[in-house]
Amino acid sequence: MACGLPCIGTASGVIPEILSGAGLLVSPSAPAALAEAIAQLLDPDRRRHGGEAARQRALERYSNQRVVEKQLETYSQAVEERRQPPGYSARTRYQDAAEVQLFETVRYRSWLGRMRLRGEQAAVRRVLAAAPAVERIADVPCGIGRWAPVLRERAERIFGLDISWPMLARARAEQAGRLPLALARAEAERLPLADGSVDIVFCFALMKHLPPEAKRAVLAEFARVSRRGLVVSFALFNPVTYLRWRWTMWRQRRSAGATVHSYPLWPGELSALAGELGFRVRRRAGVLGWLSLEKVLYLEKATA
Ligand SMILES: C[S@@+](CC[C@H](N)C(=O)[O-])C[C@H]1O[C@@H](n2cnc3c(N)ncnc32)[C@H](O)[C@@H]1O
Repeated sequence: MACGLPCIGTASGVIPEILSGAGLLVSPSAPAALAEAIAQLLDPDRRRHGGEAARQRALERYSNQRVVEKQLETYSQAVEERRQPPGYSARTRYQDAAEVQLFETVRYRSWLGRMRLRGEQAAVRRVLAAAPAVERIADVPCGIGRWAPVLRERAERIFGLDISWPMLARARAEQAGRLPLALARAEAERLPLADGSVDIVFCFALMKHLPPEAKRAVLAEFARVSRRGLVVSFALFNPVTYLRWRWTMWRQRRSAGATVHSYPLWPGELSALAGELGFRVRRRAGVLGWLSLEKVLYLEKATA
């Protein structure tokens, strides 16, 4: 690209992001498409325009100056991140390998856990069915990657992002190589994804851990990177779950040393927040019926 030559790349890995419009993309499994792309470049005008676009992109994004700037930005962010006190317990809790083990065994392998898992999967499938089948879904946070097989039913490629290295290691061991799943460490508040670069962001079991400001910041970041909308779970009150939640909070506060980290919303609060961020609620399903706080929603972008 730096030499001003027109480029043809395969639509895999980071190549689409590097070319992003400044070259021709073909499927890695379609030799005829590659031949066709090469044939297009026999035309001198297309060759010249393609070469100019490639060089411009290389200078804009990959000059030494730009690369150094981006690296400095990344290091400054990392330093800043260490300075900030953790805003909520879920950020740090899953950094611990023992917690990862507990997440897998107790929550999803026990009898009760399996029942809950079935309820969660049914709710997610029902809501995903309201969203279009798409090319790219970002699963944030992906945890141990347990949603990847379900998401694969609706998307060509999945990007699994999570703040916890141990969770990502489990996801890699379980899923890598079996699914078109790319995994990386990232914070939901600062995703390493370009604006509108994924069709849908899927987010399960994070929102309920986030205090109001963090919830808003993460949803705004999801709004930035998604083209069509979000499939996201929230803890939502109804009168019965509200009373139960208050009772649980009261019990927890009374037991020494217990810390409460649960931030449910009333449906009206959620609709208002979604509206402010440019979403409308399209579908909603409960996990294990109306007695459970957890609901899965499809928030469609109002502009989609
Ligand atoms: C309850 S687990 C849910 C994981 C997954 N969505 C699932 O349903 O299996 C919560 C996850 O959120 C991750 N997490 C917490 N805060 C985060 C943040 N700010 N950015 C990215 N991941 C975060 C944790 O590391 C953990 O893997």
